[in-house]
Order: sequence, then C-alpha cells, then structure tokens
Amino acid sequence: MNKKKTLSTKKQVILAYPNGIDKLEIGSGENPETGYVHVDIQASDKVDILADARKLPLPDNFVKKEIRAVHIMEHFCHPEFSSAQMRKDIGTTVEVLEEMYRVLAPGGKFFMVTPDFEKITKSAAGHKVSFDRLQQWSVGGHLNMFDVHHWLWTHADANKWFTEIGFVSLADCNPIRKKQIIWDLNWQDPHEGDNSTWFKTEWYHWLFFEGIKP
Ligand SMILES: C[S@@+](CC[C@H](N)C(=O)[O-])C[C@H]1O[C@@H](n2cnc3c(N)ncnc32)[C@H](O)[C@@H]1O
Repeated sequence: MNKKKTLSTKKQVILAYPNGIDKLEIGSGENPETGYVHVDIQASDKVDILADARKLPLPDNFVKKEIRAVHIMEHFCHPEFSSAQMRKDIGTTVEVLEEMYRVLAPGGKFFMVTPDFEKITKSAAGHKVSFDRLQQWSVGGHLNMFDVHHWLWTHADANKWFTEIGFVSLADCNPIRKKQIIWDLNWQDPHEGDNSTWFKTEWYHWLFFEGIKP
C-alpha cells in the first residue's frame, strides 16, 4: 500500500510545495476539509504536515489564499489570564494568530470556527439545548490531551485579537445567524432533532470569524 509521507521540517515542506501552498487547514484531525493541505499535532494518515500550530515549518508568506481553523482555536490559553507554565506548555490564542499572520501571504484570509461563549451561555440560561451538550461544547471532547478547551472565545475577543495582530476586513460570517434563520430554530438538542435542526442548533453556537492579512 502507498502510505502518504507526513512532512515535518521546513525543508521537506518547501520541496513538496515549491510554489507555496494555496489553502492550509490547521487542526484538521479526523475531519480534513477537501482542497486544503492538512496540519495537525497528532499523526494520522489524514495529515500532510505534522506540526504544532504555534510553530509551523513554513516560510513567511507561504500560504497564498487561506488558512482554515475549525475547532482548534479554543484549544489555546488566554494570553493574560493563563500562567507562564500554561502559556509554555499549551500556547496562547494570540501566539497562534501571530503564527497564522506570519505564514499567510498579503491578501490571504484566516478563517476560524470556534464555540461562541456568549451564545453558549445565553442558551444555557434560557433555551432548551441540553446541559450535557452545552458542557461538551464548553470543555471539549476529552478524548485525549489535545481535545481539551482552554479558552472559549467571544466576538469581542476575536475583534480585539485579530485587530492587535494586524488582520483587516474582519467579519463575523456565521451562515446561520447571517441568514437570520435562527428564529426558525426549535432549540432541540442536536442529538434529538432531525438533521437540519441539528446543524442549525449546533452552528448557531459557533463563532465563524475571518480576517485578511493586508
Ligand atoms: C476538536 S479537533 C477538530 C478536528 C476537525 N477540525 C473537526 O472540526 O472535526 C481539534 C484538532 O486540533 C488538533 N490540535 C490541538 N492542538 C494543536 C496544536 N497545538 N497544533 C496543531 N493541531 C492541534 C488536535 O490534534 C485535533 O485534531
């Protein structure tokens, strides 16, 4: 069988992608998005580059179009509230944003999906989504040490940190909230509703946020 070679050094990456990378996905894990080069800290057949998102083996300005980060940005610590040891061991949200900015070419987009702390807490207070589900969205899956949430983002966090790093054209691009179809929601627990309710309820609780490197 032809096993895919996982790259881990800058030299290997440059050899494999001599013209740079168009679209990169970090923290792709077991759900890699088609059309992207996949990076994860855990080795698997689905990973192209084995690396910590805090320190990618990529030259500056190497990713031409987009970096996608779905359910990974909550796995890093707050830059001020966390201890020096946690910042060293786990890394911070801002540190990862800085690294994304470094490897993106001017004009490239950083796009993330992460649990929205404001929406989750509002639902916990007043809606019918089960506490089990809300708890899991809050703390992570806990399948392994990389499956633990260290900070839940708000829209204000995203605006502040993306701006601090230098990203522009910031946009909250949640497809559910953007279309304002949230009002049709039945607030069923994702595991109890039909498929369309499931994804609307689930997606309503995510922050979809993007910014461009000028
Ligand atoms: C909750 S999973 C999300 C997987 C996939 N993106 C999805 O939406 O189903 C988080 C992924 O981020 C990866 N991860 C966690 N910390 C990381 C880090 N410092 N650098 C790179 N990947 C990391 C984990 O190994 C895991 O595959």
